[in-house]
Amino acid sequence: QPQAFIFDLDGVITDTAEFHYLAWKQVGEELGIPVDRELNEQLKGVSRLESLERILSASPRPLSLSDAEKEQWATRKNNHYRELIEAIRPSDILPGITELIEEIQASKLRIALGSASKNATFVLDKLGLTEAFEYIVDPGRIAFGKPHPETFLNAADALGVPYAACIGVEDSEAGIEAINQAGMFSVGVGAPAFLHEANYLVPDTSRLKLDEILKAYLNLT
Ligand code: G6P
Ligand code: MG
Repeated sequence: QPQAFIFDLDGVITDTAEFHYLAWKQVGEELGIPVDRELNEQLKGVSRLESLERILSASPRPLSLSDAEKEQWATRKNNHYRELIEAIRPSDILPGITELIEEIQASKLRIALGSASKNATFVLDKLGLTEAFEYIVDPGRIAFGKPHPETFLNAADALGVPYAACIGVEDSEAGIEAINQAGMFSVGVGAPAFLHEANYLVPDTSRLKLDEILKAYLNLT
C-alpha cells in the first residue's frame, strides 16, 4: 500500500516552469545563446547553476566564463524569475491539484515537496499551500540534484516511509528518472516524448485522479 506522495513544484503544482523558461530565455538573449522549448526540456528539474551550464554548452560559439561570472548570470536569471513570480496567487494552482491534495489528505496519505528550487517556499506561500506539506526538501542540503534520486530519498527518509511506498509526481525528464532511481512509483505530467519512463502518465494536471493513480500503483507492485 502506498503511504506518501512526493510532489515536484514547478510545472506540477503551478505553472512556474513557464516562468523559469522565460527567465532563462531572457538570459540566453543577453548571452547570445538561443533558448528554445526543446533545450528547455533539458533544464526542467535541474538546479540553477546546472541549468546555466547546459545553456552554455548549447552556445553556437565557444564561451568560457569564470565561476564568478556564472554566479552573476545565475543571479540575473533569478532576478528575472523573482519578478515573474511576485504576482502568483492561489488561483494560479494548476487544475485538479487542490482536489488531488484533498483526496490524498482524506485518504490519510502523507505529502512532501521535492523541488530543486530555492524559491519553492516563497511560491508555496504565495499559493497558500504551505500547510498542505508535511515536509519540504531543502535544496540547499541536497548534494546531488535530479536526475539523482537524493531529493526524493531525502523526503521519504524525513517522513519515515519506505521508498517503495512513495509516489512521486513530476513534469520533468530528470525528475522521473530521479523517482525511478529512488525505487518509487513515478507519475508523469506531460508529453510521452519526454516522460515515457514514467510508471503512469497523464497529459496535464486536470487528469490526476487519486483512484486512478492508486490503481496503476497496485497494478505495478
Ligand atoms: C526546479 C525547476 C528548474 C529550476 C530549479 C532551481 O527544478 O524545474 O527549472 O532551475 O528548480 O530553481 P531555483 O528557483 O532555485 O533557481
Ligand atoms: Mg518541475
